[in-house]
Amino acid sequence: MSHEHPHEHPAPRPAGVDFFARKALPAPRVTAEDAGRIAAEAFGLTVRAESLGSQQDTNFLLHPDAGAPVAVLKIANPAFGPTEIEAQDTAADLVAAAHPELRVATVLRDQAGDRRSATVPTTDGPVTARLLRYLPGGALSGPHHLPPRTVAAMGAIAGRVSAALRDFRHPGLDRVLQWDPQHADRVVADLVHHVTEPERRTAVEAAAAAAWAELDAVAEGLPRQTVHLDLTDDNLVRSPDSLLGLPDGIIDFGDLTTSWAVAELAVCLSSVLRHAGAEPHHVLPAVRAFHALRPLSADEAAALWPLVVLRAAALVVSGRQQAAVDGDNAYAVTALEGEWRIFEQAVSVPSAVMSAVIADALGLPVRPAPSLPVGRPVVAGLAPAGIALLDLSTEGDAMDHGAWLEPGIEDRLAAALLARGSAAVATRYGQSRLTAATTLAAESPATVATGIDLWLGAPAELRAPRDGELVAISPGRVVLTCGLHLLDLSWALSATPDLPTAPATPAPASDTPAGSPLNAGDLLASLPAGTRLRLALRRRRSPEVPALVRPEYAAGWLALTADPAGLLGLPATGATTSPAELLHRRGASFATVQEHYYDEPPRIERGWRHHLVSTDGRAYLDMVNNVTPLGHAHPRVERAVARQLRRLNTNSRFHYASVVEFTERLAALLPAPLDTVFLVNSGSEAVDLALRLAIGATGHHDVVALREAYHGWTYASDAVSTSIADNPNALSSRPSWVHTVDSPNPYRGRLRGTDAAGYAADAVRAVDELAASGRPAGAFVSESFYGNAGAVALPDGYLRQVYAAVRRHGGLAIADEIQAGYGRLGTWFWGFEQQDVVPDIVTVAKAMGNGHPLGAVITSRAVADRYRDQGYFFSSTGGSPVSSVAGLTVLDVLRDEDLQGNAVRVGGHLRDGLRALADRHALIGAVHGSGLYLGVELVRDRDTLEPAPEETAELCDRMLELGVVVQPTGDHLNVLKIKPPLCIDRPAADFFTATLDRALTELTPRGPAR
Ligand SMILES: Cc1ncc(COP(=O)(O)O)c(C=O)c1O
Repeated sequence: MSHEHPHEHPAPRPAGVDFFARKALPAPRVTAEDAGRIAAEAFGLTVRAESLGSQQDTNFLLHPDAGAPVAVLKIANPAFGPTEIEAQDTAADLVAAAHPELRVATVLRDQAGDRRSATVPTTDGPVTARLLRYLPGGALSGPHHLPPRTVAAMGAIAGRVSAALRDFRHPGLDRVLQWDPQHADRVVADLVHHVTEPERRTAVEAAAAAAWAELDAVAEGLPRQTVHLDLTDDNLVRSPDSLLGLPDGIIDFGDLTTSWAVAELAVCLSSVLRHAGAEPHHVLPAVRAFHALRPLSADEAAALWPLVVLRAAALVVSGRQQAAVDGDNAYAVTALEGEWRIFEQAVSVPSAVMSAVIADALGLPVRPAPSLPVGRPVVAGLAPAGIALLDLSTEGDAMDHGAWLEPGIEDRLAAALLARGSAAVATRYGQSRLTAATTLAAESPATVATGIDLWLGAPAELRAPRDGELVAISPGRVVLTCGLHLLDLSWALSATPDLPTAPATPAPASDTPAGSPLNAGDLLASLPAGTRLRLALRRRRSPEVPALVRPEYAAGWLALTADPAGLLGLPATGATTSPAELLHRRGASFATVQEHYYDEPPRIERGWRHHLVSTDGRAYLDMVNNVTPLGHAHPRVERAVARQLRRLNTNSRFHYASVVEFTERLAALLPAPLDTVFLVNSGSEAVDLALRLAIGATGHHDVVALREAYHGWTYASDAVSTSIADNPNALSSRPSWVHTVDSPNPYRGRLRGTDAAGYAADAVRAVDELAASGRPAGAFVSESFYGNAGAVALPDGYLRQVYAAVRRHGGLAIADEIQAGYGRLGTWFWGFEQQDVVPDIVTVAKAMGNGHPLGAVITSRAVADRYRDQGYFFSSTGGSPVSSVAGLTVLDVLRDEDLQGNAVRVGGHLRDGLRALADRHALIGAVHGSGLYLGVELVRDRDTLEPAPEETAELCDRMLELGVVVQPTGDHLNVLKIKPPLCIDRPAADFFTATLDRALTELTPRGPAR
């Protein structure tokens, strides 16, 4: 690369613009009035011109008297000659022709088919004015966070443009631009003095020099071609039809030139880094999308991040220069902070790490190729068989009972293993350590170990594994060469008093100066028992590697390191199954109808209280698990179930105490006459059985249900489920015995506010009419607090009136308490209490077993007895000893930990916090619910209540990134359902509110953008 650099071998002057000859290119000074005049005189348009920002050219949006803008008037920078402009216009036409699905700001043509272009005089001399196609939708730029699919769409556009321009040649491409990364080192050198803060200036110079050197290593292998070179968020336009804000439009071909093809992508990626919350790994969807359309070679993948860094450096210095020469160009001045943010992010992770992350994401060979160093044992005399392995991963048994949250737990666990006779205890290289996890963290913690920790049970000597050289030595640390690697050994006495200790013997090697040769077997240090030693291997020229790194970048960091296990005689860490591989396998054996949360779900293998823990060692706040009211992995449930499993587990036709005690306890929770309990295994079964009981008891086969409900998947429970979110054909595919009434939603239903009282009358009328038609309903089934609508309370008096009507015609009232019941509402244990009614049949499930499959139907003896006429009831595992014990323990803990009270206290606090958010975020239409059963309903307009499902989905994905699991519900999927384990505390509730606040603030703006 450098051999043809203009510095050393001045290239012939380009025919077109030469940045190095002109340096500053202030935008042409044309006012909106001038622009209006130009539009009239040159193009015969009567329009109002509105200035649009630009850096080098000047652009105006042309508005006619009425209606949408007709075109963009582009006044080219006088530095650009007609051949260059011709090249740009042709390239735009080419991309438009190659990709009709993209909208491209091509030059409009007149009736003769000629481009609408004219040379017009200005105070700065004659300039070229063109009329360009106006693309409504608005650019992607702005402070908001870019969701992965938007980033992917950006990369896909860059890939398509790259493919379209691959063979384009034109004399107007002979130009030297400051944005061409082939000149980036010189641009930085020439302009860096505009960065006036010394620290920033030094940082830019150093980063650019390092990136230039990395690029140099691969530049020979980089293909060149015509590139747009400015496919940034500023120049990619959102499709006005896309509710997701996805780009489909391209503007501004002003930086068209010939350069490295991969620079097209690098420019695009750099603009991603400007957005809120973006960090280097957020560019990967764009890289993958580009690669899918225009595959990157290994060299190009290696060049990509250095190019991003160079682009960032060029942006910073050029932005400063532009602001200096063109101080009244507001566009250039306001861009400065964004440019600095791009730079900060581009250098926030070493380039070598990002290059390996990118290669890993594309399945390209990671450079350098991994190698395992060999040598004599580092810890002399320590037999591998005497080393116990300490599994600190999410799946490690030692992490049970929340042990991972205890300070000093690693040392204590190691001490316990040593006390049991191990000579030493070792951790695993490359393992995500749950002990490094933090709860309520918006950023993933650094959990992945880049070395091995070794606790010594007896004094030991460290010896050089190979011939080599001492690189550095200081108290508690030796760094030496080890083949291609540096072996970094550091130690301290373990903080645990339980560890055996012996006085330290001085390390003879500590007198050896750095740089001294070492022979294999040379003594490096003598360590006392109780020492915690860290062994790490990194490539000789790699940057320093932290002991723990964040999972998003682990593939990159690990590529710079090697597993030191071999130096202890231990086998290297084996490959683990990635979440993506596991998901693929799941897809192969699951039907597509069995959905999973999230497109790219984390692999969750542990839960603790209100946290869900991934195999990356990330603890997510769990806001959705109403099946675990006590919190995940509650020790009392675990102990009770394990004890019962050791003793007996069978079916309830046998005679044992727990099933009796459990049914007594359940019945006691309900008002008279509900005293008879059927135990099943799920909510669907409970609803199915409830319907069967009602139909059997009444002899009436018709059932009335609420629209928008979900009651289960079995034949009968599905028949009464009409939520279109679960089944788009739900209403049209009803069996004839199911009759639905309006969803009595006072917020968004047909009757709102005080009018909602009318729902009951309508439902009563429907029930009466059914009876009048000779088909009186055997049952009315509904949730008693409307969960599926988004935790909406039914209108006051609704159930009282409808129950009365159903009963008047001989039918029974079924209350589905599967979501709302069991204390979650805080003020009421059962949802029907809120309605001041007593149902005839109650269905319960979900919460009952804290995740163990358990369901129940509770009714009166009179109703239950009628089942006799239908034969026999038996459920193999319903009410099994284990299920009964689980159910009893859940009730005990609910009581002992006052979780219903907690739902009142923390739920009330959470609701207040969420309501306060509604004052700041217009998207929040309402906060529904009670206790810890809440719904945040998101609407685009508080008057029309237009639902915001795309925004809700984007929020849920973003919240996951920020450490929160929350999901949409409701027929429009526009309600965040909030039903966390009832043990959630205030800090967690506050974290949720703060995270939602942040995600809403950074959400892609929708609506009338241009
Ligand atoms: C209100 C309601 N009823 C019934 C069911 C079905 O319960 P299960 O999934 O345990 O079969 C559900 C499940 O989401 C529910 O929300």
